[in-house]
Amino acid sequence: MEDDGLEMVLSSLASSSINSAEDGVQCPATKETSPVAAPSPPATRLPEHERQQRVEEERRQKVLSLKTSLVALGAEHGVRYITYGGEHHLHEIMDLITRDLSEPYSIYTYRYFIYQWPKLCHLAVNEEGKVVGAIVCKMENAKNSTFRLETVKRGYIAMLAVDKTIRRVKIGTALVIHSVESLINNGCDEVVLETETTNEAALRLYENLGFARHKRLLKYYLNGVDAFRLKLWLRFPAVIRERGKMSLMESLQLDLPQEQPKA
Ligand SMILES: CC(C)(COP(=O)(O)OP(=O)(O)OC[C@H]1O[C@@H](n2cnc3c(N)ncnc32)[C@H](O)[C@@H]1OP(=O)(O)O)[C@@H](O)C(=O)NCCC(=O)NCCS
Repeated sequence: MEDDGLEMVLSSLASSSINSAEDGVQCPATKETSPVAAPSPPATRLPEHERQQRVEEERRQKVLSLKTSLVALGAEHGVRYITYGGEHHLHEIMDLITRDLSEPYSIYTYRYFIYQWPKLCHLAVNEEGKVVGAIVCKMENAKNSTFRLETVKRGYIAMLAVDKTIRRVKIGTALVIHSVESLINNGCDEVVLETETTNEAALRLYENLGFARHKRLLKYYLNGVDAFRLKLWLRFPAVIRERGKMSLMESLQLDLPQEQPKA
């Protein structure tokens, strides 16, 4: 991510909207100068719900803008993004995911997710229409992991894979962003997933997007490997209480290769 020639797509959410809201509404500067500075009027704080709405709207816009950049990048590689289109996709998704994931899933597991949440299954397809990337998600009401009496609407990423022949061109990232957008649009408060503690690629991909290591699950997988539960908070009040700071979503940022100047 520190590579040269990269463009920061999402960066200043906290510093722009949240700080300005925090500082209160400033009086416009007057053109007339006076030797004695007039005392500044007391700052008016935005009501909390307006502040939250503003932050969440900006967040939506940033996700949208990131998605647009990633779709354009995909097009340069002959890849476009669609949602699950029917049974003809199911076997391709299974083939793709089975090739890479250590956990053997039965067709019933795929059907459980995809039949119930087809719009949360995003695919990357190449120019021949072949599936080269897939993400499978669901959403549900769940107990808040810190405040057990509260219910949250939780998005869950169950599977993610990109074909070996076309990795490291941000297809995995684009699939995650498509899912995050769908989950935001469906009113989710947070997104969680598990990944092997040894899966450096997945950990980096998710952490680059602001997901945080929330828990370590011992011997979670059948192969005996531990998992990290990663979480992305989508609504900032929950994060302030759970993490004692602004939403990690505020750090949502991604560097994309800058367009090369045309010769
Ligand atoms: C993990 C996976 C989905 C990544 O897909 P991808 O399209 O290659 O990922 P991206 O191009 O979006 O990579 C985004 C960032 O993730 C990190 N990353 C991805 N692959 C990596 C690798 N092999 N090694 C180290 N970091 C890696 C990098 O930080 C990368 O950014 P960079 O290329 O600018 O350095 C893909 O490697 C895969 O299908 N793996 C097997 C299945 C799997 O592990 N799924 C995740 C289960 S939770």
